[in-house]
Amino acid sequence: MNKKPCVLVSGGAGYIGSHTAVELIGAGMDVVITDNLANSDMSGVEGARRITGVDIPFVDVDCCDRAAFAEVFRRYDFDSVIHFAAFKAVGESVDNPMKYYRNNLASFMNVVELMHESGRHNIVFSSSATVYGEADELPVTEKSPRKPATSPYGNTKQMCEDILRDSVGAYPSLKGIALRYFNPIGAHPSALIGELPRGVPQNLVPYITQTAAGIRECLSVFGDDYPTPDGSCLRDYIDIVDLAKAHVAAIRRMIENKNKERYEIFNVGTGRAVSVFELVKTFERVNNLRLNYKVAPRRAGDVVAIWADTSLANSELGWKAERPLEETLRSAWAWEKHVRGIE
Ligand code: UFG
Repeated sequence: MNKKPCVLVSGGAGYIGSHTAVELIGAGMDVVITDNLANSDMSGVEGARRITGVDIPFVDVDCCDRAAFAEVFRRYDFDSVIHFAAFKAVGESVDNPMKYYRNNLASFMNVVELMHESGRHNIVFSSSATVYGEADELPVTEKSPRKPATSPYGNTKQMCEDILRDSVGAYPSLKGIALRYFNPIGAHPSALIGELPRGVPQNLVPYITQTAAGIRECLSVFGDDYPTPDGSCLRDYIDIVDLAKAHVAAIRRMIENKNKERYEIFNVGTGRAVSVFELVKTFERVNNLRLNYKVAPRRAGDVVAIWADTSLANSELGWKAERPLEETLRSAWAWEKHVRGIE
């Protein structure tokens, strides 16, 4: 009998990592989670354990600490890694670039080096649609040009993609897939895991759910004078469980040797553009509530519109976003209520 595939999930206590751990286990794989809990706590791991009924091994380690991280490679028998562990606040990265370069680059370089040195094979990197910047043509395909990054955060995503491409080019036993996420939102249908931002949320959906919960007074819609149908920005909001499933497909592709190149890139989105106003109104409708919101000035650094051409992921990964926006926004509210103890 073939051995079960085992995947190391770095940053697996976080929002995307915990959902991915659940889907990997659901797909019959073993998972080891590492996290230094810098921007998360054990609730993500505990939630994933409850959902799956598996006592998922967890190691509290910083991937930047090479010696400590190498110990995980000695202790556990995995052949694939999904690297989520990174800082992700765009504004903070502008104010404190070295924090971002040091953490996001060093941790990924350790991952790649340790995978290579220990003779392991498959690496999935969490990249972002941010690499496309303000795209000249929409929707963006994987062949659309990357634009110069407008933040150190975005730059680390581009640099890590390059680190993966170059390392796979140099080390014949390695394979890599960069997944370019659009805007992940929502929560697991169990409401046992979800997004738990620390402090004031920077992203739209957590700000909406916290406003609905009465934690924030009023949502600011950043700009209503963009050249879009209703004046607000357009994004491609991808359900978190669908996004997690894209990671399972990426790992399977490499394990089963179905990849066409040893380094590949896939957009992970829905292919549908949704405006901020549309998102707010859909949230109100499906959850049967009124949200306090006002129009505010544009936010510096926001692109007007971006959404994905997902045909490559559809055909090559055999993956497609499935959960309707309505259901995703219901799950986001169910999670917020669960966290706040609201009935
Ligand atoms: N927005 C508001 N009010 C808020 C928060 C956001 O109107 O309080 C608007 C933004 O202006 C934007 C849209 O909601 O038009 C989405 O904003 P998010 O902050 O949720 O997401 P972004 O598209 O700005 O950022 C996401 C990821 C980043 C990534 C970026 C670019 O969170 O990590 O996409 O791909 F870098």
